[in-house]
Amino acid sequence: MAIIVNEQKNQFYLHTKNTSYVFENVCGLLAHSYWGKRVEDVPPMAELYPLTGIALVAADLPEPYRSSDILLQEYSTYGSCDLRTPSFSAVYSDGSPITKLAFKGYKIYNEKLSPKGLPATYTNEGDICQTLEVELFDELKKVSVFLYYCVFEEKDIITRFTKVVNNSEEAFTMNSVQSFCADFPHMNYDMINLHGAWAREGHIERKPLFVGTQQVNSKNGASGPNHVPFIALADKDTTEDSGDAFGLTLVYSGNWYAGVDVDRHFRPRLMMGLNPFNFEWQMKSGEEFYAPEVIMSYSSQGLGQMSRQFHNIVRENLCRGNYRDTERFVLVNNWEATYMDFTEDKLIEIADAAAELGVDMFVLDDGWFGKRNTATTSLGDWYVNTEKLPSGLKGLGEKINAKGLKFGLWFEPEMISPDSDLYRAHPDWCLHTNGRPRTPCRYQLTLDLTRKDVCDYIVDFLTKTLSENPINYVKWDMNRHFSEAGSALLAAKNQREVAHRYMLGLYSILERVTTAFPNVLFEGCSSGGGRFDAGILHYMPQVWSSDDSDAVERLYIQEGLSTVFPFSTMGAHVSAVPNHQIERNTPIKLRGLVALPGQFGFELDLSKMSEEDKTASKELIKAYKQYGEVFHRGEYFKLSSIFKGQNTAWEFVSEDKNTVIVMLYNIQGKLAVPHKVTKLKGLDAAAKYEDIKTGKVYGGDTLMNLGIFHDCDHDQTCDMLVFKKV
Ligand code: DGJ
Repeated sequence: MAIIVNEQKNQFYLHTKNTSYVFENVCGLLAHSYWGKRVEDVPPMAELYPLTGIALVAADLPEPYRSSDILLQEYSTYGSCDLRTPSFSAVYSDGSPITKLAFKGYKIYNEKLSPKGLPATYTNEGDICQTLEVELFDELKKVSVFLYYCVFEEKDIITRFTKVVNNSEEAFTMNSVQSFCADFPHMNYDMINLHGAWAREGHIERKPLFVGTQQVNSKNGASGPNHVPFIALADKDTTEDSGDAFGLTLVYSGNWYAGVDVDRHFRPRLMMGLNPFNFEWQMKSGEEFYAPEVIMSYSSQGLGQMSRQFHNIVRENLCRGNYRDTERFVLVNNWEATYMDFTEDKLIEIADAAAELGVDMFVLDDGWFGKRNTATTSLGDWYVNTEKLPSGLKGLGEKINAKGLKFGLWFEPEMISPDSDLYRAHPDWCLHTNGRPRTPCRYQLTLDLTRKDVCDYIVDFLTKTLSENPINYVKWDMNRHFSEAGSALLAAKNQREVAHRYMLGLYSILERVTTAFPNVLFEGCSSGGGRFDAGILHYMPQVWSSDDSDAVERLYIQEGLSTVFPFSTMGAHVSAVPNHQIERNTPIKLRGLVALPGQFGFELDLSKMSEEDKTASKELIKAYKQYGEVFHRGEYFKLSSIFKGQNTAWEFVSEDKNTVIVMLYNIQGKLAVPHKVTKLKGLDAAAKYEDIKTGKVYGGDTLMNLGIFHDCDHDQTCDMLVFKKV
């Protein structure tokens, strides 16, 4: 059984194959006892951790617990005696900001429960998942907070989310509701997060905890790019392969928070959920509210195992749709080839070259609609520009299909240009606050997705375009984040709900459109990886990882993102040199081998490609068709990190363990230095593996213990080694 309740000891055990998560009901408060490697029995809280320190507030608990301010808690509220950061806080009709929750009861479900209206993990046939529901209740205010724990026993994953119910006759205002909270007994950890910016997404940062608050978050209406919604604590000596790692990622695409408050007794409170900053939610009598799901991945075998557990659940229990498990399309996107300056003939020329190479799909990016020749205009006017495309989308799509290519199209559905027919007809449809300027960014404003009429309009134009034209793929872009985030239809007291209501609107649109068009592959994008998160991946199984398509920069970005997300979710293309963003020259081999493990494609004018590059591209496509499944469904091992040096190596082991691919990259050469040794991981030590290029056979133990020697003499060299079990 994954969930065991020890009624005598008031303890709740959540067991996966290799991990345990334990909490206890202490005088009505939930105390966090343990999260870590599997244990069958945890001593009661009273004996577990020495409770040093004198409570400064009040001795609200009997000895030996003393005070809720020093008890290690599982979910905390504001206003009584725990003065650390609360997981839940609200202001009631009498002006009181105090909530006092006490344990009321629990239920166990033999199924996975999920937060309503929000993306979440799910089970497939054969998956074992139990859910524990714990009800906490404020007797005075008649508010219930339900904590949900879903235990994916075989996958070593637990997820958590929260539901709040107003059982009273009166309304109240909620201003923080976290999805995950747990207090740890000591601060001997590093905090790991993924920070970024436009064109520099997903960079790994690791810092020791300090006493005080350290946090990462988003306040801009999208999840990134400043940070990916991810946080981990790891022992100071945790490596890729050993030591404790506690990872969290939020299934949410808007304003989020993840933080660690280390208190005066050096004990960290780890929390994750909706960002309480500028958040309020009016809870009328009888209403319920769901906070997003957090995916928890604990590993006692280092960060690599934590990542592999994340990859597995994201691939199999989060992403959905017809393309979840299939190999997707090798595409060519015209953005960096033409930007908005194209004609139908030019597009056909690129498509011809693509067909010759063996590409599967041609994607038409920004600039095909309204009067869109520059970024200054036309978002919202989603009708084809027949001056550029005289055959229309249908005609162009059919011509492309006739070459044996599928056809994909770019949209930016959430946006509106002030210079558009849509804006002239509906000036109130954008996010705005009366009396303040509507500040454009990239000459555009954000549509107000808190409104049903706006959501319906988006679903209608997408439905029309996708049903009338032969479209197999949609790139869903979002090129600005929020400013003046108010809504014309919401009352004054609801204005701080805008950011979350926007997400609920977006998710309802995505649910409707992706369900109606199961054969269309959707790819997320927000100026690259500005909204790369587990919420988006529920609807779209891949995201354009970054606008920086330079191979060297992509080594950092893709390695960083792989901390949480599998390569199957990362759009990665070969682009032209000198690179358009960073002006670096890199050989086609490096550009190809860096993009290959992701969702592979091209982002350049194929009609201008040299014969040499064409030959290399054909080889790349061949390798991708042959090994895409290993990159996307196999296990990933980071053999070395680009954040620590000039060389890096990624390894992928196929699901059946018979194929092993090692990608070796060297960005800067050095002469007269020792050869680099790369030791493989995750092989069968007793088996033999043949290097298919050389025909040489090695023992699994040899590859893992002696490793592969390669030189690093030259700049920007790389290799792809394939081993087959013999
Ligand atoms: C930002 C995206 O990341 C690019 O790939 C491209 O689609 C442009 N937007 C188009 O405006």
